[in-house]
Amino acid sequence: MKKEPKQLSVSAIQNGTVIDHIPAKHLFKVIQILGLDKIDQQITFGTNLDSKKLGKKAIIKISEKFFADDDINRIALVAPDAKLNIIRDYEVVEKKVVEVPDTITGIARCMNPKCITNFEHVMTRFKVVSKKNVALKCHYCEKITDQENLQII
Ligand code: CTP
Ligand code: ZN
Repeated sequence: MKKEPKQLSVSAIQNGTVIDHIPAKHLFKVIQILGLDKIDQQITFGTNLDSKKLGKKAIIKISEKFFADDDINRIALVAPDAKLNIIRDYEVVEKKVVEVPDTITGIARCMNPKCITNFEHVMTRFKVVSKKNVALKCHYCEKITDQENLQII
């Protein structure tokens, strides 16, 4: 039987960054966190692509853009399985995974309904007390928001 050639749903890029394995439901959150709506480089993306691991995944390709690790790690809460591929001259020259950072600003909501961040215009701030099963300690009220109660803003 003839084997289907591997087809790309989103065209290859010459130079830049490919962020693969983003949960489809968080694609626009990733775009927002990385500020991709404000950059001039060419961006292509695909979403609701089939993934064995994630069910539906999204992929973003950003030409001529290379991120600092600290910037890219901000997506870890919404795309913990994201894989970064650094492309130079059409070749994948490096692969990276995202890592949950030590502190998180914004992105998540504090689960304490009485927390100041939930009724005043104050951006949330957390210390990450556990990375594997994410647990975030609020800078303001010191309550822990765990994975189960994690809500993305
Ligand atoms: N890619 C791209 N442009 C290139 C080379 C690769 O957009 N010039 C993309 C591919 O479409 C793929 C990702 O970069 O989504 C990684 O490429 P590659 O390592 O060749 O693919 P896989 O082996 O499928 O990667 P993995 O299994 O590690 O996700
Ligand atoms: Zn709080």
